Amino acid sequence: MSAPQSVQQPDPRLADSVFLKAARGEPVPHTPVWYMRQAGRSLPEYLRVREGIGMLESCMDADLVTEITLQPVRRYGVDAAVFFSDIVLPLKAVGVDLDIKPGIGPVVANPVRTLADVAAIPDLTPEHVPFITEAVRRLAGELGGTPLLGFAGAPFTVASYLVEGGPSKEHARTKAMMFGAPDVWAALMEKIAGIAAAFLEVQVRAGASAVQLFDSWAGALTPADYAAHVQPHSARVLAAIGELGVPRIHFGVGTSNLLGLMGEAGADIVGVDWRTPLADAIGRVGGRGVQGNLDPTLVFAPTEVLLARAAEVIEAGRAAPGHIFNLGHGVIPSTDPGQLERLTEFVQTYALD
Ligand code: CP3
Repeated sequence: MSAPQSVQQPDPRLADSVFLKAARGEPVPHTPVWYMRQAGRSLPEYLRVREGIGMLESCMDADLVTEITLQPVRRYGVDAAVFFSDIVLPLKAVGVDLDIKPGIGPVVANPVRTLADVAAIPDLTPEHVPFITEAVRRLAGELGGTPLLGFAGAPFTVASYLVEGGPSKEHARTKAMMFGAPDVWAALMEKIAGIAAAFLEVQVRAGASAVQLFDSWAGALTPADYAAHVQPHSARVLAAIGELGVPRIHFGVGTSNLLGLMGEAGADIVGVDWRTPLADAIGRVGGRGVQGNLDPTLVFAPTEVLLARAAEVIEAGRAAPGHIFNLGHGVIPSTDPGQLERLTEFVQTYALD
């Protein structure tokens, strides 16, 4: 990091945070709960403030970021706020030509293919993201005893957007680079790892109490390829943040057979999607805590079915040193916020003793 930054003093009420206690493996009165993509298209108040404003533009406006991050905390009373941003925002901030297209996702104008393409991407410094520092500081003040979770995209998942040029199911070009051009691959992963670590450090220094590293698409890899070509780079990001002393969550989708390696990469809590029974996941993460893992489509079932399945997840989570309740992936845009209100209340009033 180029310039020393002041560190925001944490709100004393954060000492009682159920989310932070669970993340550290300390006893809690109830399982803490938040939702990936809790801010966003399932909330009418989100759609109202976003009207006529592009996604990346919104992420660079400290007023909007603050408001959108607070919306689900107000409505659901969740145990953590997740910072409103996107995994490609730091790339945009350093000057990569990209956009987030509605209904599509991140689209990169000039996909990365060569060492020269990698070298052309600048490293991230706090001066690239003053609006992030500003929004996090304000949020830390407004949230009081509710922790703010910062996040970044992990090197593999971000590389997939940069190499493919947009969303991809197979990640074929990305993996072709990994298998066929290991020097370009290593340079790209190092570049993104540095950007992710710097982006997380900005958030933590401005007042984020914990971080999540999203390796959403790592499930496309075999354990051997993950271990050889991806894990060392994610580990570098997580080690850099570990030095700042905040809990780290490491999440991916379809990562049943990678959970042990993702824990070893340096996570305190491993995020689990809904496909892996939580009890199995707990056995695989090597004594670490877990986050998850209710099927996000259960919100479309009758409330009693939703809550019965939530109870099973809470009960399974008791075997872990720490469990943070979440869906197995992001909130689906057509989700009825009323269902998440009822789910949140259910998890927070489900007594653990
Ligand atoms: O509430 C939160 O979880 C915080 C905000 C957040 C967003 N993106 C906002 C967003 C977070 C944590 C992300 C992370 C992110 N972005 C991931 C990792 C998480 C995951 O879902 O696995 C990924 C892969 C991306 C890339 C990305 N950005 C995708 C695939 C999309 C969806 C495209 C679409 O419209 O279907 C986006 C856009 C995006 N990021 C939206 C939001 C609220 C929707 C844009 C809008 O509302 O116009």
